[in-house]
Amino acid sequence: MRVMIAGGKGQLGTDCTRVLSENHDVFSVDIDEADITKFSDVEDLVKKFNPDTIINCAAYTQVDKCETEKAIAWKVNVDGPKNFALCLEKHGGRLYHISSDYIFDGKRNVPDPYLETDAPHPVSYYGTTKYESEKAVRQISHRHVIIRTSWMYGAQGHNFLKTMLTLALQHPPNEIKVVNDQFGSPTWSHRLAFQIEKMIDANVQGIYHASAEGYCTWYGLAVYFLGKMGITHKVVPCMSEEYPTPARRPTNSILENQQLKKRGINVMKPWQEDIDQFVADFREHWINQAS
Ligand SMILES: NC(=O)c1ccc[n+]([C@@H]2O[C@H](COP(=O)([O-])OP(=O)(O)OC[C@H]3O[C@@H](n4cnc5c(N)ncnc54)[C@H](OP(=O)(O)O)[C@@H]3O)[C@@H](O)[C@H]2O)c1
Repeated sequence: MRVMIAGGKGQLGTDCTRVLSENHDVFSVDIDEADITKFSDVEDLVKKFNPDTIINCAAYTQVDKCETEKAIAWKVNVDGPKNFALCLEKHGGRLYHISSDYIFDGKRNVPDPYLETDAPHPVSYYGTTKYESEKAVRQISHRHVIIRTSWMYGAQGHNFLKTMLTLALQHPPNEIKVVNDQFGSPTWSHRLAFQIEKMIDANVQGIYHASAEGYCTWYGLAVYFLGKMGITHKVVPCMSEEYPTPARRPTNSILENQQLKKRGINVMKPWQEDIDQFVADFREHWINQAS
């Protein structure tokens, strides 16, 4: 299979590139090669690589900045995927587009998860752009796969775990307040890359949730991660009101991988198991980087 990965230098893009290269011809690109907001850039790539599959991992992912940088957020998160969909309709091939748990409003009682069939209702501009991207892709592309994931971390790039580690390593250790009233499923980009490969092999189509199994709060995640890292810390729980951010976050963004399970192809693991493996693989590297 000829697979093109957009956003190939991001968290998920890096892991997709590494994992899929084992069994497929992979062409990984990022903004330095092509700007996905320009149809001509996207079409040039498609003509050059002639992919059977495009995985769109490119996005404007800074949730708070999306509230003020609306034009660029829309261009990258909506026009970009639209360009891939239009191009693949013209040239053939299947689009795997990555979406987000932030398309839901999070008002559901914890721990009831959101299913693929639940109605989205975003509460932030980032969430709005991701939902609009889904609608555009579904409308244009007859051969689309939309994958909604959540609370992603990986070895590459910026993420919550890296922030927690950096804060905890500061001397003397300051108190770190972390919200304890938002619930979700921390998902390792490496595991998701394997899940995407499994989906490509199964030739799926439609909307899929792909998050780690189980759930926690950001506070619970910070405590578990730093504990596994063996880092002394002063993490204390707080409420969202005590930590105001420009963008609202859903209180409950737990996703159930119902469609993957129905098809018997769910390879996502409990979030604690993935954190344990992640720490075993990257503890030393991350501590060296952070110090
Ligand atoms: N991170 C999460 O917690 C999370 C949760 C749920 C869903 N998702 C979704 O998962 C996907 C992957 O997320 P991620 O965390 O891997 O993102 P990421 O690390 O921010 O990577 C996104 C990549 O896209 C590139 N990009 C930005 N604008 C571009 C453009 N105009 N043309 C081409 N490339 C461009 C970025 O380049 P620069 O770095 O140079 O801008 C970056 O390399 C996204 O669709 C995101 O919405 C993420």
